[in-house]
Amino acid sequence: MTNQTEALPRHVAIIMDGNGRWARKRGLPRVAGHKVGMERAREITEAAGKRGVKALTLFAFSSENWQRPEDEVSYLMDLFVTGLEREAKALHKNNVRLRVIGDRSRFSAKLQQRMLEAEAMTADNTALNLNIAANYGGRWDIVQAVSQHLQNNPGISQVSEQDISDRVQLHDEPPLDLLIRTGGEIRISNFLLWQAAYAELYFSDVLWPDFHPEELDKALAAYAQRQRRYGKTGEQVTGESAQGDA
Ligand code: FPP
Repeated sequence: MTNQTEALPRHVAIIMDGNGRWARKRGLPRVAGHKVGMERAREITEAAGKRGVKALTLFAFSSENWQRPEDEVSYLMDLFVTGLEREAKALHKNNVRLRVIGDRSRFSAKLQQRMLEAEAMTADNTALNLNIAANYGGRWDIVQAVSQHLQNNPGISQVSEQDISDRVQLHDEPPLDLLIRTGGEIRISNFLLWQAAYAELYFSDVLWPDFHPEELDKALAAYAQRQRRYGKTGEQVTGESAQGDA
C-alpha cells in the first residue's frame, strides 16, 4: 500500500451493535438506542461517501432478531418504515443508491413497498451504494445462492465457488474489503459469511450510537496499515525477496 487511494477500502460493511446497552446505561428503554442508532447510520453513510468509499453495507436486522421482545421488533419495523419514508429523498439528493438485501418476504406489505419505492427512486445513483441488510443471515444467503443455481440448472451434480459467488447478495458490488463491528463483541454473527472471506476485520468497543465519523476514520486508518495477502507470503505481496529465498 503506497498511496491513500489504494489504502481506502472500496466496500465497507458494519455490524451496528450496542444500541440497547447505550440506552440502558442512560436509564432509557432499549428502543431509545435504536432511534439514536438510526441517526448514526445516517451520519456514517454521509461520512463514508465523503471519504470516497464506494459501497457501504449496514446490518440493520438479522434473521435472528425476530426473537427479540415483540414490542422491540415492532418498534424497529416502524423505525424502518419511517426511516425509509424520511431518508429516501435525502439519499437520492446525495446521489446514493439504496438497496435492501435479505429475505423481505417476512416484512409487512407496507415496509416491502417502501423498500421497493426507495430502491426504484435511487436506482441510477452513482456516488455511493448503500446496502441495508434486513432479515439477512449469511447462511440463508449461501443457501439461496445454491438453490437459485440448482433451480436454473436442473440435474447438475457439482457446484463451483464461482457459481455461488455469482448468486450471493452483493455479487455485483466491489469485494468486501473491511468489516467493522461496534459494541465490543468479537464475532461475525452470521453476517456476510461468504463475502467476508478475505475482508479485514475491525472490532471497536464503541457502542453504535457513539460511533461518530472520527471512529470510522480510526477504522479506515487501521485498514490502511493492514497488509492484504490473500494467502500469499508478505514478501510476495510487497515484492521483496526474503533472506534465503531462491
Ligand atoms: C444492535 O444493537 C442493533 C440492531 C439490532 C439493529 C438496529 C439498527 C438500527 C436502529 C440502525 C438502523 C439503521 C438503518 C440503516 C435501518 P443491540 O440492540 O443489539 O444492542 P445491544 O447489544 O447493546 O443490546
